[in-house]
Amino acid sequence: MTDNKFKWSSKYTVGVKILDYDHQELFATINELRQAMEESNETNVIGSLISRLQKYAMEHFQREEHILSEYGFSSLAAHRRKHLGFMRLVYAIRHIHKNCPEKLSYKKLLRFLERWLTHHIMVEDMQYSDTIRGGAYGNRTTDIIKPLSPAETPPSKKNAREKRKQSDWTAVTVHVPAHTVDIIERCARTLQIDEAKTELLDDLTNPIGAVNNAEALDMAKIVLK
Ligand SMILES: [Fe+2]
Repeated sequence: MTDNKFKWSSKYTVGVKILDYDHQELFATINELRQAMEESNETNVIGSLISRLQKYAMEHFQREEHILSEYGFSSLAAHRRKHLGFMRLVYAIRHIHKNCPEKLSYKKLLRFLERWLTHHIMVEDMQYSDTIRGGAYGNRTTDIIKPLSPAETPPSKKNAREKRKQSDWTAVTVHVPAHTVDIIERCARTLQIDEAKTELLDDLTNPIGAVNNAEALDMAKIVLK
């Protein structure tokens, strides 16, 4: 195991426990990514960690923006743009890793992630810290946190189906225009049985939108070889 130099410390505290918890999880995920890149270099594991980083960052940004909007944080729109810029880049990185991994520089990727996160917390997140520190969200920790499962090698198709049988299922009710009911049903069936197409649906419905190889490479120049 490598010595993790990229460590969360109290200087990164924004004063809201749930957000500090999220930031620590992001540090931990980037460290896992470093370790996977340095030690195993297994494409599946690295891809799974990039996906995990993308999901957790998205979840965290939504949580943070929700809290900031409740507090009427005046620079929320600008802050949201910073989040969106990062998500676009991580999305492009995931795309490149999947489709043309030889173009990705792991060294540059790690340097970018570490610098972006520390700069964002120390400079941009700290701007809201005084506004919400100690407020209603100050000490809340577990009630709205849904920890993601640890990264793992993606299971085979058969194992994925087995796993889904054992996992929790949730019924969702949504109101949609009548003429779209059959589309929703097809999407629901896909989510139930097809891991690969679920990923495609996720891309398609992602707020950042799907990109092609050329667009992804252009968006992620900073982390290419
Ligand atoms: Fe932020």
